[in-house]
Amino acid sequence: MESIFSDPKKQTMLSGVQPTGIFTLGNYIGAIKNWRKVQNDYNCLYFIANLHSLTVRNDPQKLKKLTLDCVALLLACGIDIEKSILFIQSHVPEHTELSWVLQCYTQFGELTRMTQFKDKSAKNADNVNAGLFGYPVLMAADILIYQSDFVPIGADQKQHLELTRDIANRFNNLYGETFNLPNPYIPQSGGRVMSLANPTSKMSKSDKNLNGFISVLDPPDVIINKFKKAVTDSESKIYYSDEKPGISNLLTIYSVLANLEMSEVEEKFRDKGYGEFKLAVGELVAETLKPIQDKYNQLSKDKKYLQEICDQGAKKASSIAQKTLKSVYEKIGI
Ligand code: TYM
Repeated sequence: MESIFSDPKKQTMLSGVQPTGIFTLGNYIGAIKNWRKVQNDYNCLYFIANLHSLTVRNDPQKLKKLTLDCVALLLACGIDIEKSILFIQSHVPEHTELSWVLQCYTQFGELTRMTQFKDKSAKNADNVNAGLFGYPVLMAADILIYQSDFVPIGADQKQHLELTRDIANRFNNLYGETFNLPNPYIPQSGGRVMSLANPTSKMSKSDKNLNGFISVLDPPDVIINKFKKAVTDSESKIYYSDEKPGISNLLTIYSVLANLEMSEVEEKFRDKGYGEFKLAVGELVAETLKPIQDKYNQLSKDKKYLQEICDQGAKKASSIAQKTLKSVYEKIGI
């Protein structure tokens, strides 16, 4: 069968994002910025993980809208459908089929050790559903079904990727080479962007404190205000240190977006006060996000176009996924 990609020799990159909200600056810096960057060098598949979103309660209408909004936002962030396959997870049912098979090769003990499961079940104590528990297995299926070589993610997803490799290895040992073993692709800097309000916890789109996270669609004045309010420390000196999580987080954001080494950013702000520094970070973030916002506002109006992109993406993705699923079923006697 002819390859879906123009150069089948290139390695495969795959990643996904949940449509539980508009992406944060953390999603952008930790993952999506890299998704755009690697498109020329790898065969890339990117998707909206709407099935993963069901592990927390959503308003159905809102989920539907956000899913398509996220497609527009990925396009606005530079995902190019001439180069990459962009699709919605639920449109490729092979993911859930493989997920069931892989669940039978995943141990209860392994899933109980997942830190994200522990965190999320503590946060949603009234809804610790089986989907939340099995979440990493669906993620393993997402990755393995495309024989992915690399998975561009933030640091918080590393443990899930390790589990994916363990499951793949176990399956390969039992039935012979079936799955490629994927590697994480985590940025050296910015793999874990912290909350502006509580810099010892991760920036998250589900944070109840709106000052904790920057939404990629926040207007410039809101962005600048949130940075002005960012929690720092009382030392008034600007340098990177584990003892200074607030300032270090702001330095990291600045260094990634300005494309400067950490030492260069420290040098630039060495004699400046916190107020001036926070304003500079806020302005840089607002400036970086402005073209994305403009493009999003244009693209998000054309729902028909967005739906067409998703349909085409799902068809292409499905044709790859079917091959893997067929070989898995043959191996296990289904
Ligand atoms: P999600 O939607 O939580 O996050 C999408 C991507 O953004 C990264 N990220 C961050 N990076 C740096 N700093 C932060 N504060 C920050 N917050 C989030 C995440 O690491 C992620 O890369 N489980 C995935 C979705 C998924 C997936 C997959 C990813 C489903 N199947 C298969 C890769 C491969 C998630 O929770 O995304």
